[in-house]
Amino acid sequence: MQFENLLFEEKNNIAKVIVNRPDKLNALNNKTLKELNELFSFIQNSDSISVVIITGAGKKAFVAGADIKELAILNSQSGREFSQFGQSVFNKIENCNKPVIAAVNGFALGGGCELALACHIRLASENAKFGQPEVNLGIIPGYGGTQRLTRLIGKGLATEYILTGDMISANNALQIGLVNKVFAPEKLISETEKLAEKIISKGKKAIAASLKSINSVNNLSLEEGLKQEANEFGKCCGSTEFKEGTTAFLEKRKPNFDR
Ligand code: COA
Repeated sequence: MQFENLLFEEKNNIAKVIVNRPDKLNALNNKTLKELNELFSFIQNSDSISVVIITGAGKKAFVAGADIKELAILNSQSGREFSQFGQSVFNKIENCNKPVIAAVNGFALGGGCELALACHIRLASENAKFGQPEVNLGIIPGYGGTQRLTRLIGKGLATEYILTGDMISANNALQIGLVNKVFAPEKLISETEKLAEKIISKGKKAIAASLKSINSVNNLSLEEGLKQEANEFGKCCGSTEFKEGTTAFLEKRKPNFDR
């Protein structure tokens, strides 16, 4: 697939999505968001893709936010629509049936932090810097930051970061659970690929069912979420993956899940 602001490649069941506007620190303009929207519809329906990695082009930035040039001309009505469209794209990423891993290789600010938050797992390079600096522009995070950052790191810390716009270093992000691991910049992609390969070796249906159940914490009560977990668990028990996984264990061999 060809895009103006994204690079996309698929190899060994791993899709790599690179936001590619390095001269603008990969800022998300409307065109880029539309391309992400189209690409994630394709990924959702792909049988060959098992894991997705998102990163930014160049050494400096993952994504330095929404494009401020496009932001600057918004009014109340177009601002709401701008926010709603970005939220819908990031919801699509969060609800993707394949794991999406953010490999955060530099600035992840504003919409860039929100893009990382919509991904299922975040890994970062030592030079990564996160933040929601929207308050400096007289706005608030509009692509899900007030909701996902708060759910991930807790209300107290999220409030401080959103009200001050302060940047969060990679090590600090690790301490507060914003990222899972931090690597030297030159190792970030290879380590992310290793994680992707480990996930790929598991059963595809069990991975998709895990994501669906985990995501339900966003909109279901504990009681409803447990009901959904039991439903998904039951569906897994009827799968050939389950037969292979349990048979392999009992035969003392590694499972061989169909891709
Ligand atoms: N939107 C549009 N353009 C952006 C951008 C954004 N969010 N972030 C960076 N750029 C552009 C700059 O305007 C500059 O373009 P130019 O060379 O045509 O002037 C280019 O990317 C490089 O950025 P620059 O500011 O020169 O790099 P720096 O190393 O001095 O600073 C940052 C890096 C990330 C600290 C700084 O670019 C910044 O604060 N960006 C905005 C972050 C932000 O507020 N994001 C949230 C938006 S809601």
